[in-house]
Amino acid sequence: GEQGKKGERGERGWRERPTRAYVFQSMTTLREFIAREQSRLLGDLKDWLRIPSVSTLPEHAGDCRRAAQWLSDRLSGLGFKVETLETEKHPILWAVGPEVPGAPTIVCYGHYDVQPPDPLNEWVTGPFEPTERDGNLYARGTADDKGQVFCVVAALEALKATTGGLPLNVRLLIEGEEEVGSKGLTKLLLAEPERTAADAVLVTDVHMVAPGYPSVYTALRGIVHAEIHVRTLKKDLHSGLYGGAAPNAIETLWHLLEQLKGPNGTIRVPGIYDRVTKPTAKELKAWKALPIKEKGFSKEAGAKALNGESRVSFLERIWARPTLEVHGIVGGFVGAGAKTVIPAEATAKCSLRLVPSQRADEVAKLLKKAVKKAAPKYAEVTVEILSSSDPVQTSLDAWPFEVLDAAFKEVWKRPASPVRSGGSIPIVGLLQQRKAAVLLTGIGLPDDGLHAPNEKLTLSQLWKGIELFGRFFQMMAERQK
Ligand code: BES
Ligand code: MN
Ligand code: MN
Repeated sequence: GEQGKKGERGERGWRERPTRAYVFQSMTTLREFIAREQSRLLGDLKDWLRIPSVSTLPEHAGDCRRAAQWLSDRLSGLGFKVETLETEKHPILWAVGPEVPGAPTIVCYGHYDVQPPDPLNEWVTGPFEPTERDGNLYARGTADDKGQVFCVVAALEALKATTGGLPLNVRLLIEGEEEVGSKGLTKLLLAEPERTAADAVLVTDVHMVAPGYPSVYTALRGIVHAEIHVRTLKKDLHSGLYGGAAPNAIETLWHLLEQLKGPNGTIRVPGIYDRVTKPTAKELKAWKALPIKEKGFSKEAGAKALNGESRVSFLERIWARPTLEVHGIVGGFVGAGAKTVIPAEATAKCSLRLVPSQRADEVAKLLKKAVKKAAPKYAEVTVEILSSSDPVQTSLDAWPFEVLDAAFKEVWKRPASPVRSGGSIPIVGLLQQRKAAVLLTGIGLPDDGLHAPNEKLTLSQLWKGIELFGRFFQMMAERQK
């Protein structure tokens, strides 16, 4: 239908059109607006960040709802028609801007939920008390992802204020379950794929690969999130009276984990590497030119040295190889003082990251099989899959990528470098189902500390980002005229 026609016009028509000099007037106006409104915008963002919308903790369900409502109110105020779509957990916002006949359509995706803030004692200022220090704004969610969603919304606001309206059809799709696997949104987009039929889907939930290096992502890893439960006894036992003969659940678990991953980072799950593909020579060459080197990366990570597969370059290890990480081990006595006990139960919370062309359901099966094989007879071992998503790849051929480049060139003086990330955004695969160009980009920086204490957003990135997305929307609109 209409979608296919637009896509064709985009792909074929766009290179033949003469390059046009963009109106610099509107750029200064956007910039002026941002400069004038800075303190109000910052105050508003802080209000949103104060709401602890931690999606994984049931006690914060009300806060997730409040965070959604906050954004809903802001978008309504901007003239969007906002729907709050219920899920089993936290609501999804679907906001539709005024119709602009003949103009392209863009869907902007992001999430208002955040990761838990612990360890609390490592935060210089409270995770939900947004604070400015040295040009940065510190709080949980500044970079991942409220600050970046706010940036896009502020760009829409700036456009409306400086030009009297929006130049294209804008829809916002902002969810509250990204950090827990996007179950509700997955259900919605499977049932209603037409929602994301658009010329482009802008996903601002990733960062720049280095300061001054705008980035656009060609691949994200997938994930299989799992819990491995071990039970060896009916109940905990006295370690003196039974030690030496009664099986210890923690000990069983560590032997089991050792059988799943070797000391050099190799995953010992049979079949795990079968579908792993090597990055193209072109990609590897482009990565070499990036200003991220092993030493700097290691320093930024706060590690003495890196580890992992020894014959694979570090960027390949984080971007193009599967991994198995243990996030937490639960079990036994962890209180103050001593208790001599043999634990009956232990759990490892872990995840596997997947790369093109692995499949999450297939890997989950391989993991279950490997655990079953490694489990000793005396133990009851189960694997529970918490969530999973396939890895994604995006080709950068569609015309909106060239518009994104043009906007970055204007505002950041450099086009977007094609990069990958080791992280995952579960919904991206479904955002691609209607063949829209999915643009994975953002204004965060690699040292923002996502999921870590003292997460921050560099404010100069935010202000420039508002201008960038404002110009990007304008240029998107102009390209189809
Ligand atoms: N925004 C991140 C993912 C990300 C960050 C990708 C930077 C690329 C660059 C996202 O919020 C995230 O943390 N995703 C989770 C998904 C999981 C919990 C299902 C992840 O990757 O761990
Ligand atoms: Mn995110
Ligand atoms: Mn995240």
